[in-house]
Amino acid sequence: MRIAPTFAATRAACRGTVGLVPTMGFFHEGHLALIETAREQADTVVVSLFVNPLQFNDPADLARYPRDFDRDASLAESAGADLLFAPPPEEMYPEPPAVRVSLPALSAELEGAHRPGHLDGVAVVVAKLYAGLQPHLAFFGRKDAQQLALVTRLAADLSFPIRVVGCPTLREADGLALSSRNVFLTPEGRVSARALSRGLFAAADAAAAGERSGAALEGAAAAELEAVGVSAEYVAMAAAAEAVRIPRLDRPAFLAVAARVGAIRLIDNVFLWPDGRADRGRFLERPSLLYSKGKGC
Ligand code: PAF
Repeated sequence: MRIAPTFAATRAACRGTVGLVPTMGFFHEGHLALIETAREQADTVVVSLFVNPLQFNDPADLARYPRDFDRDASLAESAGADLLFAPPPEEMYPEPPAVRVSLPALSAELEGAHRPGHLDGVAVVVAKLYAGLQPHLAFFGRKDAQQLALVTRLAADLSFPIRVVGCPTLREADGLALSSRNVFLTPEGRVSARALSRGLFAAADAAAAGERSGAALEGAAAAELEAVGVSAEYVAMAAAAEAVRIPRLDRPAFLAVAARVGAIRLIDNVFLWPDGRADRGRFLERPSLLYSKGKGC
């Protein structure tokens, strides 16, 4: 695997079908699964690693964001990456960007409502990655369901000839969605955090049994959080393509939850289809490598 600090050097090293896995580093199995999927579908797999200041609405969150370049480089290589595009800030933003990239129709609710500016910051950096690296395929996790809707629509609206591939969420064996923030959960918080996936799975069970009402499905998920005293920022069923809340499961959708468990903000979702199918993600058989190799945030 080659490490490339510039857009030009990365582009010059690409051959055939190029698959891009955009990341902010500090890898766990979710990132590695994206790289492995890209490996199956592309001739050249480019992993980008850039902690994008534009998408942090809380400076403290940016300051404590975990960074371990050597660890990430070694994991990316072992998962099958050909190129690690790791630009210094002046390559990504030679000037403070004057451009704004915003998808208001997809950013008004959910994360967009609770993290002002976050999705606009994601849209700017992903547009730069699309334009600067010119991949044919781009791989994103379904865990960030609203982000996935946004980066898909961004490619379509700006005519980037890119197919965006959504990949399943990776989970601990007990259902907790992988996030580098998980390592900051206290032992009690770790137990409470299971309520997020438990609630989402209860809703998926209800959908499989025929429930189509958004309020009922949201209620099934919220009940599990309330039972353990976890306060939700939102529990919402939204159309998968638009990330806008819908009252009935009558199109592809996701049921998303954001909650604070102690001081830690967690998000999770299940994708749902009108015929009752659900994507609950993939489950690990052993504890995540997050716990064996350093700490995340
Ligand atoms: O999902 C992430 O890690 C980031 O939002 C992304 C897509 C790499 C943009 O900085």
